Amino acid sequence: MEKAKTLVLSSNCVNQIVQTFGLNNIMDTLIDYTTAAIKKYNSDLVEVPTRFGFNYETRNPGLIEMMPAHVKEKEVAIKVVGYHPKNPQLYNLPTILSTISSYCTATGHLKGVADGVLLTSLRTGAASAIVTKILAKSDSSTLGLIGCGAQAVTQLHAISRVAPIQKVLIYDIDTNTIDSFVERSAMLGIEVVIIRSSIQEIISTSDIVCTATSIDINEGPLFDNIKPLPHLHINAVGSDFPGKTELPLSLLKNSIVCPDFLEQAKKEGECQQLEDSEIGPDIISLVKNSNNYIGNQLKTTVFDSTGWALEDQIVVNLFFELAKKYNLGEEIALENISEDAKSPYNFMLNSISI
Ligand SMILES: NC(=O)c1ccc[n+]([C@@H]2O[C@H](COP(=O)([O-])OP(=O)(O)OC[C@H]3O[C@@H](n4cnc5c(N)ncnc54)[C@H](O)[C@@H]3O)[C@@H](O)[C@H]2O)c1
Repeated sequence: MEKAKTLVLSSNCVNQIVQTFGLNNIMDTLIDYTTAAIKKYNSDLVEVPTRFGFNYETRNPGLIEMMPAHVKEKEVAIKVVGYHPKNPQLYNLPTILSTISSYCTATGHLKGVADGVLLTSLRTGAASAIVTKILAKSDSSTLGLIGCGAQAVTQLHAISRVAPIQKVLIYDIDTNTIDSFVERSAMLGIEVVIIRSSIQEIISTSDIVCTATSIDINEGPLFDNIKPLPHLHINAVGSDFPGKTELPLSLLKNSIVCPDFLEQAKKEGECQQLEDSEIGPDIISLVKNSNNYIGNQLKTTVFDSTGWALEDQIVVNLFFELAKKYNLGEEIALENISEDAKSPYNFMLNSISI
């Protein structure tokens, strides 16, 4: 039997796929694939536990977590993700580093592994776009970005695909990050005016806001006592660890708060701050019954995005599909698959004597 191969998509391949397929095509396709997967989501067929891992207080404090999704009788996709918010400053590395692997549930064989850095920011943007389309007013033209790092770029990209954004208000505690935002988002080719702003102005004048900060544990909220427009929709992306929250309780209590993954959001998201009875429909209910929620476009709404492993399973499979289409990626025999399944040292047979 030919040795089972593993499709390896390095960052180079991932980038080539995006360049060949097109930035907007990728985001639109991912939004469509994720919407379709959520529409047919059935918890009897797909198992997604809350993520787990290790966090540490070292010179570069951070955490490494496992995010698995089991699509029964098909695959287990696992993202291993590191969050190290001092990475950009200390090592010129992204805050979020990750890889996503996919295993065959018939045999345990590693079918493929891909860079997860770009894939994570794409799928996080796509999830915000899906909920924004349902909960934000369809004529939303002002987008506020609080926290202008890596995720903010794909948030802007994704939101611009579903809302007629004309003005983008930006704020970050780091002035270099603000200074470089226009350049970092120029390749999106979106005709928008990007204006430096304050949290006060962003919350009080925006139609849509994305918070994507690396705020420290127990340092939230980012603001308090600011009156938003009644229809403000917020994608709260940065709250994804126990004690790490971005939004004030008063705003959450006056909003419809919709988690991506309820159990995880209660442990790690803005929902940590709420009683169960104060939490609104999750992304599954929103997508499956979107017509029921149109009236909420006139209310203040929050998408509590903690990051759902199903999104990783969807995005990695999209990239595997495109890699095959464009003949990109490398197929390697990564696992030691001996010609004799019960002889792990079989490869020694033709070598020198022991
Ligand atoms: N929900 C999800 O699925 C998901 C996915 C990826 C990342 N995240 C989270 O999103 C956040 C941003 O990730 P990133 O990759 O963009 O990181 P990043 O380091 O590239 O950007 C974070 C930015 O937040 C800024 N910031 C920190 N504290 C702030 C404050 N109090 N006010 C304003 N700005 C502040 C930093 O200066 C930095 O520029 C992280 O918390 C990360 O854990 C969530």
